[in-house]
Amino acid sequence: MGNKVLIYLAIFACLARAQIQLPSKVFDQLKVEVAFETVLLLREKSTDSLVCLETENEVILNALYQNLESIRNTRTIFMITNEVDMESLFRKCLENKMLNVLAIGNWSLEEIYSYRSFPEFTLVMRKVDQIERYFEPQLKDMGGYPITTVSDNIFPRSVIYKDGNGSYQLTGYLAPFVESFVKTLNATLHVYWDHAPEENEIVNISFLNDLMRAGRVDIPMFITNLGFTPSHRNHSHIVELSKWQIMLPVESQISRALLVVGGGAKLLNLCIFILMSIYALVIHNIRRFELGMAPSLMCLWVIFDPVLRAMLSQTFSMPRSSSLRLRWTLAVLLMGSFVCYNIYITNLETLLVHPPFDPPILSYQDMRRAGLKLMISEPDKGALTFVLGQRGYNANSDLYEMVSTSVYQTSRSKPNTSYAYPITQTLWPHIKMKFIRQEQAAFRLSKELVLIPLVHFALRLHSNSIYKGAINRYILNTQDSGLYTHWRTQSFYDLLAIGKTKQLPYKDTSSSMHLRWEDLYYYWLIYIVSVNICVLAFAGEVL
Ligand SMILES: *[C@@H]1O[C@H](CO)[C@@H](O)[C@H](O)[C@H]1NC(C)=O
Ligand SMILES: *[C@@H]1O[C@H](CO)[C@@H](O)[C@H](O)[C@H]1NC(C)=O
Ligand SMILES: *[C@@H]1O[C@H](CO)[C@@H](O)[C@H](O)[C@H]1NC(C)=O
Ligand SMILES: *[C@@H]1O[C@H](CO)[C@@H](O)[C@H](O)[C@H]1NC(C)=O
Ligand SMILES: *[C@@H]1O[C@H](CO)[C@@H](O)[C@H](O)[C@H]1NC(C)=O
Repeated sequence: MGNKVLIYLAIFACLARAQIQLPSKVFDQLKVEVAFETVLLLREKSTDSLVCLETENEVILNALYQNLESIRNTRTIFMITNEVDMESLFRKCLENKMLNVLAIGNWSLEEIYSYRSFPEFTLVMRKVDQIERYFEPQLKDMGGYPITTVSDNIFPRSVIYKDGNGSYQLTGYLAPFVESFVKTLNATLHVYWDHAPEENEIVNISFLNDLMRAGRVDIPMFITNLGFTPSHRNHSHIVELSKWQIMLPVESQISRALLVVGGGAKLLNLCIFILMSIYALVIHNIRRFELGMAPSLMCLWVIFDPVLRAMLSQTFSMPRSSSLRLRWTLAVLLMGSFVCYNIYITNLETLLVHPPFDPPILSYQDMRRAGLKLMISEPDKGALTFVLGQRGYNANSDLYEMVSTSVYQTSRSKPNTSYAYPITQTLWPHIKMKFIRQEQAAFRLSKELVLIPLVHFALRLHSNSIYKGAINRYILNTQDSGLYTHWRTQSFYDLLAIGKTKQLPYKDTSSSMHLRWEDLYYYWLIYIVSVNICVLAFAGEVL
């Protein structure tokens, strides 16, 4: 607060003088270029500031930097007298990431000073008559200036690996993203390698945040969920929208041998059995009735012959002296069995082509029942606690299998089917690509177990970063042109090339469409057992 008052006082003190003495031509031109209403600085109303320096005053300058915290790209004009050392003033501005700076020396009508920051500091003096643009863009050509980046080694966004010579390299889709950005500025990319993570290990996020805060990294090669770090919202740039959900191993299918012997749906079988019993009862009792006997329930044999034979579309013999009533009943039985037989066969064939799954996993309770665990790593624990709350986390803590980040990444991208994994839309396309030649992927995305329905992945810059404007335009351009999507798709093949992922081979699916020997396993079993019994019975009779 004290600083604010100080700087406003300093500014207002010299404004009166400025208004009288400032070259009106300069201001008219500036007005057109930067489109401000009035040069009388007020931070709230415009993003331009005017500072008058009589002598080089550290306190005022520091107050200025603090006032412009996180908006250092504000266009600033210094009014200075000849006691101020222009070069050292500009160098300090550069140190404090203020690039949009002009200085009018000595209230002069003639010249205007500015500086070029890249590739090295140069003081520029221009004649007012010859100026076309007062605030020239500083990042147009950085002439090979180093831009530092650092990777978090999260698949498949940015992946650290060692090449044939044993030196560290970067791949993943954020690598071309950052590399091209650096190229558009004609700068050179410098990668921060000092932390050298283990194979597949995710770099400690607090370590990365410390690097960012200390300003040692210009453009990070990692993106973070904005929801977890609201304090970074003002200097983060959203690059991706995603979803955080759970990837489950696909439930196993019911064996076709069981389907063939069970004959499809249980309910259908039960209905057919009840229908058969009714037919049997009716036929049995019509016969008894015609013979003048009392009705009876003992119709077991009639169920086999003729009802079952009719159902299986087999011949059965009609009683020689059957009445008209019995013939009609048998005719109805034939019609009914024809319909039943066809429904049954259609149902069975459908099930054989699309075998049903074991009970699907729809909740944590189902996971518990199926004995399935969710593999997580240390960073996920924090995130899960954030999303579910401590109580929500503890409620299912028996389901979590905590492992190191390197085991986690290896196992998730392999992927090892004995676990479920939390996953975002970033990695999921890679898992799909991996199984694309297979009859069926070994995993599915759970629609029920969604941890965060909308994740904003953002690139976080230092709050006073000079690259804010440039990266914003670049993100829009790469998204609009489809380059970003292209890099995402391409990263699968890049990872394939360095052996960090594998595509499972093509599998001929036609064989699984037909009925195989092993599908008739139980029929073989029944057949062999009954043949043996008959042989034994025959042997018994002979002896
Ligand atoms: C400021 O003006 C004085 C004379 O009034 C002149 O001697 C001096 O060189 C000028 N300085 C600058 C930086 O223009
Ligand atoms: C890019 O920077 C290099 C120095 O690293 C310089 O020689 C070259 O002229 C620059 N290219 C462009 C197009 O400005
Ligand atoms: C290994 O280093 C040599 C010489 O520095 C270089 O020519 C070669 O391309 C490098 N190989 C790989 C795989 O990077
Ligand atoms: C990450 O680094 C911070 C300090 O920078 C440390 O306190 C923390 O324990 C580290 N976390 C892990 C998982 O190593
Ligand atoms: C972000 O900026 C807004 C307005 O510019 C400000 O009110 C808010 O406090 C800032 N948030 C943080 C975390 O700096």
